[in-house]
Amino acid sequence: MTDTYDLTVIIPTFNEEENIAAIIEAVNEVFLRSGIHGEVLVVDDSSKDRTIPIVQEIAGQNDNVRLIVRTEDHGLSQSVVEGFGAARSDIFQVIDADFSHPTELIPRFYEAIRGGADIAIGSRYMKGGDIEQWPLKRRVISLGATAFGRILFPEVTDPVSGFFAVRREVVSGAPLAPRGYKILMEVLGKGRWRSFVEIPFVFKDREEGESKLRLETMTDYLRQCADITRFSVTRRAGPVWDEWKKIARFGLVGLSGIFVNMGLLYALTEFAGLYYLISAAIAIELSIVNNFIWNDIWTFGAADNLRFERKIQRFGSFQVVSMGGLLVNMAVLFLLADVFGVYYLVANLTGILIAFAWNYAINRHFTWKSM
Ligand code: GDD
Ligand code: MN
Repeated sequence: MTDTYDLTVIIPTFNEEENIAAIIEAVNEVFLRSGIHGEVLVVDDSSKDRTIPIVQEIAGQNDNVRLIVRTEDHGLSQSVVEGFGAARSDIFQVIDADFSHPTELIPRFYEAIRGGADIAIGSRYMKGGDIEQWPLKRRVISLGATAFGRILFPEVTDPVSGFFAVRREVVSGAPLAPRGYKILMEVLGKGRWRSFVEIPFVFKDREEGESKLRLETMTDYLRQCADITRFSVTRRAGPVWDEWKKIARFGLVGLSGIFVNMGLLYALTEFAGLYYLISAAIAIELSIVNNFIWNDIWTFGAADNLRFERKIQRFGSFQVVSMGGLLVNMAVLFLLADVFGVYYLVANLTGILIAFAWNYAINRHFTWKSM
């Protein structure tokens, strides 16, 4: 029996006495205005302040407000997962208690899920999203965490957002091993989902109380990334696995390109009698063509996307990125070898690896954007 309510808004709390009454009221107002039959589920980690009695009192007056007080395994992610388990609806919305997440957007998340998305993500990093009042240090940390998360989920602009909605089937039965702050990463990495949408929002820093983010949160995050990677590799399925498969294929294609390049350079110079620099230019271009064809068909599986002008467009993009990659390679080689005195073969290998990362990242995001 999970359809008692249309939606469960899960609010994890730890010492939120200044905010909790107001945020519950704001959520209930959104329910009223939008006609959503929703419940509010506060999951508290044994707050030391007055959060618990305040919520108890509100729950006594509102049937749709409930409180869970946890006493073990303290943690934001753990609390959210416990909320998933206790929710009495099939759509879950997670929000912070401190008004960082605009409650008036809740109906948009709800409609996105009802419209077919498995996960709706509030994004600070897409067009229309932003962060207000964050000190530079927090911005940098967050950008770093986000960039790292995007290696795992390249299509998600804000994989560490704390503001998201998810369908029950995505998380029920999923082996979530929550730790730290980044519960959304866990859901993305281990949940059963196919589609997601992102909804831009402006993150407002808390006015009352203080952030509970600590250094530990960051090491937790790195461990979580490693755990999600391990999970997808052993299970050989899911979005992260698909991504790593693409990276591996892109690498193999790159390797094939080196053979094409060397072979042609040799053949054109030795047998066709061309000046070796002319041979090299032809060899480079033809290896780019070789790599494009394999990546288009195999790595990014665009075989069914046969519209000729789209293919030409992708090739043009790949060509430009590859030339850029060549420049990156040369620049690193020159910088390391000439300026820092690194042995030139080592410098070149470093250049190749950095150019590879460049080529993959840019091509993934532009050339084969939606594959
Ligand atoms: N139950 C429980 N247990 N709740 C917690 C805990 C905990 O250990 N720690 C924090 N919370 C609650 C807070 O009470 C608040 O409602 C919410 O989780 C977010 O905590 P903040 O301390 O305000 O987090 P933040 O503003 O630094 O971090 C925000 O941004 C991150 C992305 O940069 C949050 O939205 C995170 O979820 C998000 O990942
Ligand atoms: Mn906050």
